[in-house]
This record gives sequence, C-alpha cells and structure tokens, in this order.
Amino acid sequence: MPSLNDIRSTYLDYFKSKEHAVVDSSPLVPRNDPTLMFTNAGMVQFKNVFTGVEKRDYSRATTSQKCVRAGGKHNDLDNVGYTARHHTFFEMLGNFSFGDYFKEEAIPFAWDLLTKDFGINKDKLLVTVYHTDDEAANIWKKYAGLSDERIIRIPTDDNFWSMGATGPCGPCTEIFYDHGDHVWGGPPGSPEEDGDRFIEIWNLVFMQFDQQEDGSRVNLPKPSIDTGMGLERIAALLQGSHDNYDTDLFKYLIEASASVTGQAPYGDKNVHHRVIADHLRSTSFLIADGVMPSNEGRGYVLRRIMRRAMRHAHLLGAKDPVMHQLVPALVSQMGGAYPELSQGQAMIQETLKLEEERFRQTLDRGLKLLDNELADLPEGAELPGEAAFKLYDTYGFPLDLTQDALREKGRTVSVEGFDKAMENQKAMARAAWAGSGETADAAIWFELADAHGSTEFLGYDTEVAEGQVLAIVADGAAEKSAANGAKVQIVLNQTPFYAESGGQVGDTGFLKTDTGRAKITDTRKSGELFVHSATVTEGEVAVGQGAELEVDHARRSAIRANHSATHLLHEALRGRLGDHVAQRGSLNADDRLRFDFSHGKALEAEDLECINAEVNAYIRQNTPVDTRIMTPDDARALGAQALFGEKYGDEVRVVSMGLAKGSGKGLSGNTYSLELCGGTHVARTGDIGAFVLLSDGASSAGVRRIEALTGEGALEYIREQGQYLGEITGMLKAQPAQVSGRVKALLDERKSLQNEVAQLRRELAMAGAGDAAETRDVNGVTFLAQVVSGVSGKDLPDLVTQYKSQVKSGAVLLIADVGGKAAVAAGVTDDLSDKLSAVALVQAAVAELGGKGGGGRPTLAQGGGKDASNAQAAIDAAEAVIGG
Ligand code: ALA
Repeated sequence: MPSLNDIRSTYLDYFKSKEHAVVDSSPLVPRNDPTLMFTNAGMVQFKNVFTGVEKRDYSRATTSQKCVRAGGKHNDLDNVGYTARHHTFFEMLGNFSFGDYFKEEAIPFAWDLLTKDFGINKDKLLVTVYHTDDEAANIWKKYAGLSDERIIRIPTDDNFWSMGATGPCGPCTEIFYDHGDHVWGGPPGSPEEDGDRFIEIWNLVFMQFDQQEDGSRVNLPKPSIDTGMGLERIAALLQGSHDNYDTDLFKYLIEASASVTGQAPYGDKNVHHRVIADHLRSTSFLIADGVMPSNEGRGYVLRRIMRRAMRHAHLLGAKDPVMHQLVPALVSQMGGAYPELSQGQAMIQETLKLEEERFRQTLDRGLKLLDNELADLPEGAELPGEAAFKLYDTYGFPLDLTQDALREKGRTVSVEGFDKAMENQKAMARAAWAGSGETADAAIWFELADAHGSTEFLGYDTEVAEGQVLAIVADGAAEKSAANGAKVQIVLNQTPFYAESGGQVGDTGFLKTDTGRAKITDTRKSGELFVHSATVTEGEVAVGQGAELEVDHARRSAIRANHSATHLLHEALRGRLGDHVAQRGSLNADDRLRFDFSHGKALEAEDLECINAEVNAYIRQNTPVDTRIMTPDDARALGAQALFGEKYGDEVRVVSMGLAKGSGKGLSGNTYSLELCGGTHVARTGDIGAFVLLSDGASSAGVRRIEALTGEGALEYIREQGQYLGEITGMLKAQPAQVSGRVKALLDERKSLQNEVAQLRRELAMAGAGDAAETRDVNGVTFLAQVVSGVSGKDLPDLVTQYKSQVKSGAVLLIADVGGKAAVAAGVTDDLSDKLSAVALVQAAVAELGGKGGGGRPTLAQGGGKDASNAQAAIDAAEAVIGG
C-alpha cells in the first residue's frame, strides 16, 4: 500500500516526466493576495502568472501546496474531527499550464495518472463537466471511453471555478470515485450527492477568464490549466478507505496523541485524537510560516485552532501540555517534504507549549463558568451571547471553542448576542476615548484603529507582499483617493513595511495599484496601525484597491545588519566593561548605528579595540540568528536583556545570536546574545559583513554613546581610510608602517627649521639695521629707532635686547611692518629705567599706529597697531616722550 509520502512523490514525478517544473509550495500566508487570509489552493501562488502580469521561466508546473481552510470564507474548523474529510490543513496536489497545454492534454494526463500509475479501476470513475462544455465531454468520451451517463453535465457554479470575487476563473471538470452501492449517496447533481458514496477526487479547471471587480470577465492572455487534488483524500482511496483519518499519516499522529495522553487511539476517544492530529498540522505549519498566536487576524485564527486542540487534549484528561510533545511525530512524517517544518521545530514546540500552559490556567475556570451558566438555563436552551462573550473576554475562549464545547452537550449559543456584546464593549471604549481629551488630529487615527483593528506585519518573513488600502489620510482628513503628487498617509490591512520602533527606523519603498504608484518615504505606528507616509508618483491610489508593496531591499538589509550588530555590540560591552552596562537608547538606521549605554567614563583605546574585535569575531562565526516567542518572565529566566523602563506585553520576541565562547545564556546555555526585541534581523551573523566602531563619546551624565558602521558602510569607511593613507604614503614615498615615524621626523625637522629661520631673521634684521640704525641724542639719552621688515612680532623683543646691549645706555624703539600692521617693542637700559619707561615709549608709539595700550616692564615693553604706515609719527611720538 503506498504511503501518503509515496503518493505525493508519484504525483510530482509523474508531472515532472511530462516536462512540468516541480515548484515548492508557497507559504501559507499569501504574498500576492491581500484579501486572502491563508493560501487555500495550489493556484494562489500562480495567480499573476495566469493573468500574464508575472512571467516565470516555465510554462508548466506541478506542486504539492500547503493549504489552510480556517477563518475567512472557507471555514472548516467546526467540522474537523467529526467528519471523514474535513481538515483545517491539507495538501493540494496540482498541475498547471500557463498558456501551454489545455483540455486535450489535461484530461489525458489526469486519466492516465489515476488509472495507470495509481491503478484505480476505470469502472469506479465518473466525471462532471460544465453543462455547455461539449469539448471536455467529448475528450472524456473519446480518450477515457466514458459512457454518456458517466459524464454528468452540471449547470451550476459547482462546475465553474473561480478563485474569489475577482481573479482567474473558468469552467471545470471534476473526477469522482464511486465507493459502491454499500455506501449511501448519489452521483453529483442528484439529491443524494452529499452522501459518502461518490467522492470528488480531482478538479481540473480550464482557466479562461479574469473576473473583474464589476463582475465582467476578460479573456486570459491564453487558455490555461489549474488542477487540484486533495492528497489526504486520494491517499485514503488508494489505501482502501474513504476516511482521510484512516491513512498512514493520520494513524501515526492519532497513535502519537494516544500515547502522549494515555488514551486508546480508537473508540470513543478517537474524535479528540482526530481533532488533535488535524490541528497539530495546521498550527505547526502556520507557526513555521511565521504566524504567531494573537488576538487579531491570522494570529487569532491560529490561536483558535490551538485552543480548540488544547481543549480536546483536556477532554482526554491530559494533565500537562500535550501539543508540543507531538511535534516530533509530525516532523518525522512531513519534515522531509517540507523542510521549513524541521527548521522551525524548536520554535513550533515552544510556541505551542507557551500557549497551552497559559490556556490551561483559565480553561478549568472557564469550563466551570460555562457549566454554571448552563445549569441556570432551562433544559436545552441556547446559551446567551453575553455569557459566551464573558468567556471570550475573561478566559480567552474563542466563540468557536464555546460552540465546540456546547456541541458535545447538544446545546448552541446565540451568535447574534455574542456579536452584540462585542459591539457594546467597543462602543464603551469609544465613549471612554472621546472623553479623554485627545486632539482632533488623533481622532482620525482612533477611528481608523476602531474600524480596522491592527495592521498585520508581514515583514519578518518577506519584503514583498500585497495589502489592501484601507484608508488614505491627507492633512488629518480621510480621503477616498490620492492623485499624482499628493503627499498622504496610507493604512493597509497588512504590510511588509517595518514601522519605526525600538530604535529601528521605518521602512521605505514602493506601492503600486492598478491605477497608480506611490513612493513610501517612511513608516510609523499609530497605536497598532502602521501608517505609511507616501508620495503618489503616478496616476492615483484609492481606498479599497489591492496594492503591491515592496520594501527598499538594500536599505532594509543595511538596517538589519546594523540592528543585529547593535545586539552583538551590547553583549561585547557587557563582557568587557561589566554587567552595569545597560542600553539607554539606540538608533538603527541604514547608514549607521548608535548605541547609548550606562557607563561612567570614557572607554580606553584598548577597550574599544577589544570590543571591535569581538563583534567582528561573532560576525565571522556566522551562526543563525534565532527568534522565539515567550513570556517576558521566561525570557528573563533565560538571561535575556530587557530594556530599562520598557513595558512588555504577554508575549515577547526573543532574538538570540552567537555561540558564546564560555558559558552563555538561553535554552542551551551557550547563546552569546539574547535580547527582547521586535526588530528585524539578519538570518546569520555573517550577513552583517563587517563592523567598524567609529567613536565613543559622552551622551549625558553617566551615559556613553558609541557610533559604528556595518556592511557596505563599514567597507566604504575602510576604503576611504585606505585612500587617505595611500595619498600620504604616496607623498612620503614610504610604506604604511613607516608613516608615523616619518611624520614625527618631519614635525621635529619642521620645529628646528622654524627656530633656525627665526634666528636667521633676527640676524638679518640686525645686519640690515647695523648700517641704517642711527642713534641720536635726545635730551642726553641715546635713542635708537628703526622700522624693520621680515621680522615677526614675537622676534622683536629679542632684537630690542640685542640693540640695547649695542647702545649700552639709552632707549630703543623697533616697529615691524607685519603685512601692513605694526608690531612695536621698546627697551630702556637698566641705568635709565628709573627715569624713563619702555612702557611709556610703546604706548606713545602705539597711539600713532592706530592701536591701544601696550605693556611690559620699564626695561622692555610691547604693543601693536593696525597701521604700520604711520611709523615715522610713532617714532616722533616716542622721541617726544624721551625729550620730556
Ligand atoms: N483551484 C482549483 C481548486 O481549488 C483546482 O479546486
């Protein structure tokens, strides 16, 4: 009997042999459809290939696609466990032709696979076609030899497949298997079609149209093929059952659940094991694809599925959390086909365990409350909506969990009453807010948050995604659209753009709709809404449109590198300086990082060097960066660095990186850096590239600030430094290592040359003055006055002293012309200093030279003026002083 894994391989190999590219399953969170909660069919990832918007390098493909149908339109959650074929998670096998082959080949491909490779008895098969599709009916007749009564024409939407309100669509043909007349049920189209006798196993869609928003259909560029076959269903059939839970994979999971809970796998407990087995698959795959339990959107659907499974584990009498213990069993079965499951195993286990521990704390009390409520009601009466709302609000019981619990007792709940209670609570929040005195500008954001809840952030996993435009705000007012040139703020239901927080700057990039384009210049948060600052650059962007969103990849990569390097830097600082080092602020931009931390004094050069080297060593270690979700307390218990003064919610993201050289932190006890952080990070430390610590300075009292560069920025910095050094070595004609010695020698040489020049100038001035310097007798005092050039002001006193010794007894006045300005110095020999002061001579001279003051001792004084051209008048003035 072929196993489920064999059947998947047979399918993919079969189409590979027919020149189909085997393409990986796309993630469960659709990247290219803003309105779709989860990927629910194989064609989702090819939507734009069908319409011709996207080109691939193949025109035939085959996949085994992960699908989730829970939440949103296709919600099978309530039925899972109680029926033979409902799942929240399933695999859809498909083959696709993008304008390559059409009906003539698609039908024979399917027929041959079923009847030859899978060996299904032809007589057991029958098909439906769209009532007008004679072409398909004829191919079935001719190729498969089916008689007319086994080709059933269906006039309804059942045989016209469309992806949703818009998108690729076309008539389809469905292949059914007849389990025989011992099973109740009738052929498709008959009143008994819902029975289990005739089971649809494969849907072949002849994609021909693209459904528009206004309901019209335009032709696809070329007729195409999209098919879907549920792997669980075909496996059941090939393994001789019509119950999907009887297949090898499900039996394995059901038995694992039985062994963990100590309850028999089959019999009356079987329904619980089925729920657990199914929900184990959907929750594990969703977590592996980046969905985290939360109270909104996709995260809330995940939480509902998890909690439903956990209640069934509780019904089995499990005393401890169960779900995480089953993950290894799932990975052993499906990790081969879906490596993301093995890679995410630790994360999946921790997330399940955390949720189950938390939920178990309230489960007992909630169920007791439910029993009390029921006891007060008349036999069989519906549970009032307010009671279900109380369970939801206080104990975290999603509505469908309450419904599931009531179902076993044959009771129902008023969904209308539940919705009303929910609406009342929102109205109360609105009223409370309205009275809180917020500004009108804030009102619009509150209204938008009230209407739309929170924005779902996809940017941990992708930089490209589609979102739906929920609101456009211009100058504080909501608008329906924004035209070319407008600067607006845009809110979307989901986004890959990171909104500024935790020191990491907001993302920038592009937005494109059917009618326009915009540049996203910044992204910030307003409560839980992500607000994209946008400038429309083409056409117009309107509310309600789907938008392709693309984060500026290069910039985001640089930001990521800086943010991860900040974590390494933080740890290196703590290691080197001590545990008192705590983050006081940070900036993770694309062009640099800045880190403020508590530390009392400047870092020594040696500290800086060590820290720089350590960060680079962890970059080269190139270990994966890991992100987990846990409670803040668990995170702290593992040694995580929490931010001072920061308020954390029930759950935190914990980012760890590096393998510590000595003992470390974390679950394994050897993690280097472990921090609570909501930012985006590199996949491996090596992606940071390089780290250059630029500076350490004081930020405020007791807080230091380090600035650093990473990646390209670091390399560019190093390159620039090299270039500067190159210019110097070129000029010095020296090797880099010789530069400092050579520069020191040059500086020494310069100093001694300067001294020599000054001396020579003095000598020169004296020599020149020797001829010209005339002395005269003024009132019995020998007076030597001289205008000199080529002598700096500071050399003048020395020169005065030399002249003094030449005249032996007398007064000296020297005026130097320094670029038009005047420097003045005067001297009086000691023997005359009690009757004549050099200071008085300088002051008299300076007054004539447009200066003021002048000072010194009676024997030697100095001053200066603005205008050297008046030197003669200055000399005369000094002479007048001597003359008395
Ligand atoms: N897209 C088609 C389906 O989901 C094959 O049934």
